[in-house]
Amino acid sequence: MALINLKEMLMAADKEVYGVGAFNTLNLEMSKAIIDAAEEERSPVIIQIAELLFQFMPDWEVLSAATLMLAHKAKVPVVVHLDHGMNYENIVKAMRLGFSGVMIDGSHLSFDENVRQTKEVVKTAHALGIPVEAELGTVPGEEGLYNTQNTVMTDAMLVKEFIGLTEADVLAVCIGNVHGNYIKTPCLDFNRLREIKSIAGVPLVLHGGSGLTDEDFGCCIKLGINKVNIFTDLCNSALSKLDAIYEEKREGVSFPKILSVTSEAVKQEAIKKMRLFGSSGKG
Ligand code: 13P
Repeated sequence: MALINLKEMLMAADKEVYGVGAFNTLNLEMSKAIIDAAEEERSPVIIQIAELLFQFMPDWEVLSAATLMLAHKAKVPVVVHLDHGMNYENIVKAMRLGFSGVMIDGSHLSFDENVRQTKEVVKTAHALGIPVEAELGTVPGEEGLYNTQNTVMTDAMLVKEFIGLTEADVLAVCIGNVHGNYIKTPCLDFNRLREIKSIAGVPLVLHGGSGLTDEDFGCCIKLGINKVNIFTDLCNSALSKLDAIYEEKREGVSFPKILSVTSEAVKQEAIKKMRLFGSSGKG
């Protein structure tokens, strides 16, 4: 099956009402664990490399090339996506590397500037046949060293105009979702999501998927979320396994063991999410 285009994958999810997990990777071990999970579940999957997390990768371009090779070899449909693209040069570089989806994150900008920057990326991306995810509203929280408490819920009244002006293919929304660990219990605005879905006409994305309940995911997917971004839950499950092996026997801990135990934890967490989002068996 191998590498496919973001829009094609999400249109299929929208038609059959399931969510595709979009998992952030930091290294080759994570990329391989995510693809192994998808193959085991026969699930479509999105692997994302986030510009906001470049500083934690040894070399994002090398990681992208390796992740793309894994995607091409995969037995299930895989999208390799640039998450939170902020800088035009990096977004174009991702397109040249062969990404099958890119995000331009103008969520911190004014409406007009968000439209301007998104349009610029869409023009280049569409010339190359690459779909674009844009964001309207601001999802707060922590991603890498980026941290904002500023929440701007997506204004359903602006969605049609935004999509019309930018021609973005996929839209990320803020309905009360937060990046990183939730400090207080999240309260999602499902009525807002329902209204956005009725207007948008494009697949929708939920950032900050980690920490939400099974019921939250169920409602979001039923109401039209097609892509669910997950990073913190992958990191937390790897960390909890690490705690466990340190507790077991400090002396017996080796670096290869740490790599394999944490990769397995990432894989199992991705499998859990694929089952929850209903994408298992759809690849
Ligand atoms: P979490 O880290 O909260 O899962 O969010 C991931 C995300 O939205 C990546 O863009």
